[in-house]
Amino acid sequence: MIKTAVFPVAGLGSRFLPATKAIPKEMLVVVDKPLIQYAVEEARAAGIEKFIFITSQGKEAIEDHFDSHSSLELTLQARGKLEDLEKIRSIRIPEGQALFIRQHEPLGLGHAVWCARHYIQEESFALLLADDLVQAKVPCLQQMVQAYSPEDGNMVAVIDVNKEEVNRYGILDVKSKSGSKVRAKSVVEKPSPQNAPSTTAIIGRYILHTSIFEPLGFKKQGAGGEIQLTDGLQTMVNANFPLTGFRFDGQRYDCGTKVGWLQANLALAAADQELRPYLESVMMNLNRPLSA
Ligand code: UTP
Repeated sequence: MIKTAVFPVAGLGSRFLPATKAIPKEMLVVVDKPLIQYAVEEARAAGIEKFIFITSQGKEAIEDHFDSHSSLELTLQARGKLEDLEKIRSIRIPEGQALFIRQHEPLGLGHAVWCARHYIQEESFALLLADDLVQAKVPCLQQMVQAYSPEDGNMVAVIDVNKEEVNRYGILDVKSKSGSKVRAKSVVEKPSPQNAPSTTAIIGRYILHTSIFEPLGFKKQGAGGEIQLTDGLQTMVNANFPLTGFRFDGQRYDCGTKVGWLQANLALAAADQELRPYLESVMMNLNRPLSA
């Protein structure tokens, strides 16, 4: 049912400067893969067949990462490094299944999503923000696709955050709960802790109805002067279109921040049988005082 996914990768990544001066934030590596590869693999596991990237100048490395690399492939083949060859070949997105659209200015997530408006044929599509990495037995988007029904309207993955953190998220005002789903009566972008209706926060996984393009097309500036996706969702709620929060099984890391990125590296290394013993000794050594 959900066959198209949008990956906005046109942001500035200013919280990760200077690392992101010449390298896209979405190409930052967690353990051994760039963030965007985790997101694309998650989308594939959920049955996605069409991959739309909203890019900007300086993000060419993302396009190259999912392309073939003939000279490298030939060298690996000639040297008999067949495992490595398979590893890089499996990353490729088959021809005709990837589309790269330029967002000319980083006007906000809502605007980035709107840039995909002419290229989605189905009623609903997935949206993945690669800087949110979700570690889960069943990949997060797959859980959402399995749980989704058209009555859910727009579906957003949610987590509970601390009250002091609500000003970093879109926050739901929850009307009702049923199993892993919550129905929202409204949504607000980056409220202050005093004004937040709850601590139920949206993370970077969505299933959106294509009617979202209409309110996003108004190009209304919201929090931080950006065109916010949450404002588009709220306009649809005002028109009685449902908004559903989905509590997934798994752990999300905000890899757009240094702390979140570090946590993701540690968690994924700890889950890797080969790396775990090394990680344990590294962690033990951390307690030693630094030599002058
Ligand atoms: P963020 O809110 O993390 O913004 O965007 P950012 O610009 O990447 O990072 P900071 O805040 O400067 O550190 C969430 C996602 O939306 C994309 C980003 O690339 C990221 O994947 N995005 C954001 C766009 O594609 N275009 C935009 O105008 C804004």
